[in-house]
Amino acid sequence: MNDFTLFLKKFIRHGTAIASLAPSSRKLSLATVANIDWANTHTLLELGAGTGPITAVIAEKARPDCRIMALERDPDFVERMKVRFANVPNVEVIQGDVRNLPEILAERGLESVDAVVSGLPIPSFPPDLQEALFDNVRKVLKPGGPFSQITEMPWVYLRLYRKYFDNVRFRFEPRNLPPAGAYHCSGPKASVGA
Ligand SMILES: C[S@@+](CC[C@H](N)C(=O)[O-])C[C@H]1O[C@@H](n2cnc3c(N)ncnc32)[C@H](O)[C@@H]1O
Repeated sequence: MNDFTLFLKKFIRHGTAIASLAPSSRKLSLATVANIDWANTHTLLELGAGTGPITAVIAEKARPDCRIMALERDPDFVERMKVRFANVPNVEVIQGDVRNLPEILAERGLESVDAVVSGLPIPSFPPDLQEALFDNVRKVLKPGGPFSQITEMPWVYLRLYRKYFDNVRFRFEPRNLPPAGAYHCSGPKASVGA
């Protein structure tokens, strides 16, 4: 089964937990990571890696010694990712949930990372999971580090990300089906009420 068919099957079965009909295109993946300073990125955490289109672009762009950790909850996607990146020594595919980010990093001897890239369906998350996610991002992202988030709803969630970050920019990418883009954020806010 190809990535597209697997993705579509998962979307039909799990709906908003997947939140997209197809894996991100290469153009969207490139737009998503366009805010990353690759020369100074030594550790990068990707959240909701799916079948790995953004991971592939990260692996191309990153320094060879950059430690790339790609987190995904779905076991079938994880299995596919493990095969796909088996020969890329600086990519580690991790099965886990974003609720457990600090523990996942601690198990790897890390407290923080230089950059976080997310393909998570954050707007579909229940409020407690949204809060837990941004709390964890605040804990694990190094000061000044970028947080990049894909979206298939251009501009719609600017207010959501501005609730959690001091700096938020939207980058439109029309060469995706549907037209999409990425939020480029930094400066997680110290504390956010519901
Ligand atoms: C919209 S898809 C994006 C997949 C891929 N990054 C891409 O761009 O094609 C969202 C992914 O987030 C994963 N996901 C959803 N909730 C998660 C959670 N709580 N922890 C880890 N991954 C999660 C889903 O399994 C799915 O693979």
